[in-house]
Amino acid sequence: MADEPLVLGIETSCDETGVGIVRGTTLLADAVASSVNDHARFGGVVPEIASRAHLEAMVPTIQRALDTAGIKGSDLDGIAVTAGPGLAGALLVGVSAAKAYAWALDKPLYGVNHLASHICVDQLEHGRLPQPTMALLVSGGHSSLLLSADITTDVRPLGSTIDDAAGEAFDKIARVLGLGFPGGPVVDRMARDGDPKAIRFPRGLSGPKDPEYDFSFSGLKTAVARWVEAKRRAGETVPIADVAASFQEAVTDVLTRKAVKACKDSGVDHLMIGGGVAANSRLREMAQQRCDKAGIVLRVPRPGLCTDNGAMVAALGSEMVWRDRAPSSFDLSADSSLPVTEVSVPHTDLHAAAHEALR
Ligand code: KG4
Ligand code: ZN
Repeated sequence: MADEPLVLGIETSCDETGVGIVRGTTLLADAVASSVNDHARFGGVVPEIASRAHLEAMVPTIQRALDTAGIKGSDLDGIAVTAGPGLAGALLVGVSAAKAYAWALDKPLYGVNHLASHICVDQLEHGRLPQPTMALLVSGGHSSLLLSADITTDVRPLGSTIDDAAGEAFDKIARVLGLGFPGGPVVDRMARDGDPKAIRFPRGLSGPKDPEYDFSFSGLKTAVARWVEAKRRAGETVPIADVAASFQEAVTDVLTRKAVKACKDSGVDHLMIGGGVAANSRLREMAQQRCDKAGIVLRVPRPGLCTDNGAMVAALGSEMVWRDRAPSSFDLSADSSLPVTEVSVPHTDLHAAAHEALR
């Protein structure tokens, strides 16, 4: 609808410079410049390399998004940006750019939470989220179960990983198997030719006395590394596809079991899965089977929207405008450890007044 808020979103929390443009719940542009190849030889994201890449990519990526959407900056109703959590230097580039554009174009600025954006992106695919919605967010930096009663104001953590994030485990296992970085997509691909029951790897925090909604992947990671190491030491060939499939099965089994349990316990009948690991084909398949069985409606955005992108930030920004939430002040700062409960960075009257006085 033409009267729905038109918002540009900027995402720079990790290695993707993402700029999305959304009108209401409709995606108009999703431009991404990734520095992932610059990090590959280090086996993980190098913060300083990511920050420099954001700086170089920012203006061209914004221009590309505007061109794709066929709009001018002056048409926008607001500019949203990931304020955290993420890499401090990387976030700073996005926040500074968002401030500059918002100031120059005289548009409201919305500093939003990266995790809430991962949830909200699903609106671009499946329409407005029901309230409440359970969200399982699984990526290279986070693995959390979140309950959201209102995606612009109310996101509550039920559980999270106590050690590695799910995506981190995929990346580490890929390294052990010599498959390169990032590990998720290649493990997913290799696992298609493997037997998920070949090796019974441990399911972390799944005992009767363990916390119900927390996750742990470091024991699994060690178990896989030891198993592979023992094979190599014995001079045997490592059955890479079987290891990949069995590891992936252990991760997805725990993630989907806990997510469905959280829905049942809280009486919530909608589950969304987001974050880079939500691109995993086995996770999507198993979640669908278990949700169908439990009478839960599963919502998973297409893989391109699960990994970090600007569209998710624009989606949440547009929802903020739609629901008439207060914008952030221009003293907005990047917060590398922004708590998930802070969906947006609040407006401070003092700075808003100073801003007005300066205009
Ligand atoms: O959300 P994201 O793009 O960035 C973070 O915020 O971390 O997630 C990246 C993570 C990486 O660890 C990557 O290996 C993982 O998502 N990933 C996958 C798949 N595609 C990406 N993990 C499993 N299966 C996949 N198909
Ligand atoms: Zn992310």
